[in-house]
Amino acid sequence: MKSVCVLGSTGSIGLSTLDVLRINQQSYRVFALTANRNIDRLVEQCLEFKPCFAVVPDEQLAEQCRLKISQSAAAATEVISGMESLEFVAKHHDVDIVVAAIVGAAGLLSTLAAAQAGKKLLLANKEALVISGDLLMSAVKDNNACLLPLDSEHNALFQCMPAGYQAGQGAAGIRKLILTASGGPFLNKPAAELRNVTVEQACAHPNWSMGRKISVDSATMMNKGLELIEASYLFAMPADLIEVLVHPQSVVHSMVDYIDGSVLAQLGNPDMRTPIAHALAWPERQASGVSPLDFMLNKQLSFAAPCYEKFPCLRLAYEVLATKGSAPAILNAANEVAVEGFLNKKIRFTDIPVLIQQALDTSSIEPLDSIDTVLRVDRVTRELTMRNMESI
Ligand SMILES: NC(=O)c1ccc[n+]([C@@H]2O[C@H](COP(=O)([O-])OP(=O)(O)OC[C@H]3O[C@@H](n4cnc5c(N)ncnc54)[C@H](OP(=O)(O)O)[C@@H]3O)[C@@H](O)[C@H]2O)c1
Repeated sequence: MKSVCVLGSTGSIGLSTLDVLRINQQSYRVFALTANRNIDRLVEQCLEFKPCFAVVPDEQLAEQCRLKISQSAAAATEVISGMESLEFVAKHHDVDIVVAAIVGAAGLLSTLAAAQAGKKLLLANKEALVISGDLLMSAVKDNNACLLPLDSEHNALFQCMPAGYQAGQGAAGIRKLILTASGGPFLNKPAAELRNVTVEQACAHPNWSMGRKISVDSATMMNKGLELIEASYLFAMPADLIEVLVHPQSVVHSMVDYIDGSVLAQLGNPDMRTPIAHALAWPERQASGVSPLDFMLNKQLSFAAPCYEKFPCLRLAYEVLATKGSAPAILNAANEVAVEGFLNKKIRFTDIPVLIQQALDTSSIEPLDSIDTVLRVDRVTRELTMRNMESI
């Protein structure tokens, strides 16, 4: 039995993870679950999985959760609060596997704690890697952690890498990585109409059901930009050896192009339970609950180059990856604030890349020498972008 800590269990990835754990319950026990605000869902999950710990960062919400749990059949679960409690469960010696599925930079310290404690770390929280880059990769290497990507594209690339490959290593014989992108809900919308798109339209992804932040990122194609940076760190590949290819069907999840002319691809239905089941069981395989891919229903697989004019966030991601240092952290913080602003209807969809560009143009880029630097850059960029948002 492997003991699993699910950081962000109440979100979209968290729910998919619990689905996979449920159908493979002979192999796993749930050690800890964490939420931010969705206490009702967390309590339901505690009732079913009876973890040792439930984490709620806010003490008032944690107290509400304690009350509900104490009156239920999950009374053995201890509810703890404070952001440091996320790190406490992520590095706990009774944990074998940590699923990092908190959204945004809020997941950085708990993800890092799991790496520093040498856990098997399943990474969905791409923002943590984007902002901390080599610092997180070094923590993985120095502490013999096992980092496996949950993002479907990176999980696909991992599956197509040479045998024996480990995260953070380059690999010989690779010409380039090909990251596929659905293109999001606005792939075929004229650029001139993007100014007036609504939150509901932006969150209606054609192929994937996801949290609201990543849904907006998919609509701006910043998600692919973050994934580009994530792939660069995970696979030790420079930006010019990572190509983004629009593939609207989301069946080919990504590809590795080798120097002998071979291209290895991983295919499957667009369902996050596949990469989650793969990473949980790796190097074995286990059931995920995902239906088999039916080629008769997927006869048309098409590919196209992305349009950088229509989706400037993708261009910005290539630029910050070439610059590195604190540039990816600035891009990420500005994006998180801008997306939140769009979701709260304070700014237009097309203001998102404008705010990110402003943050990059007015911030000095510095080397990322410590996590304290990452946290400071993140905080300062958030403050700057909030101010810029007032005058947009
Ligand atoms: N969804 C996908 O298909 C998908 C695919 C690939 C990668 N990812 C990545 O996986 C991560 C999670 O995405 P998601 O779609 O699952 O997001 P989501 O549905 O919004 O879930 C986010 C989770 O993080 C928790 N959370 C939010 N803010 C927090 C904070 N400040 N402190 C602690 N916990 C916090 C949420 O708690 P509450 O529910 O209580 O608010 C929830 O459990 C993101 O980095 C995303 O890019 C997602």
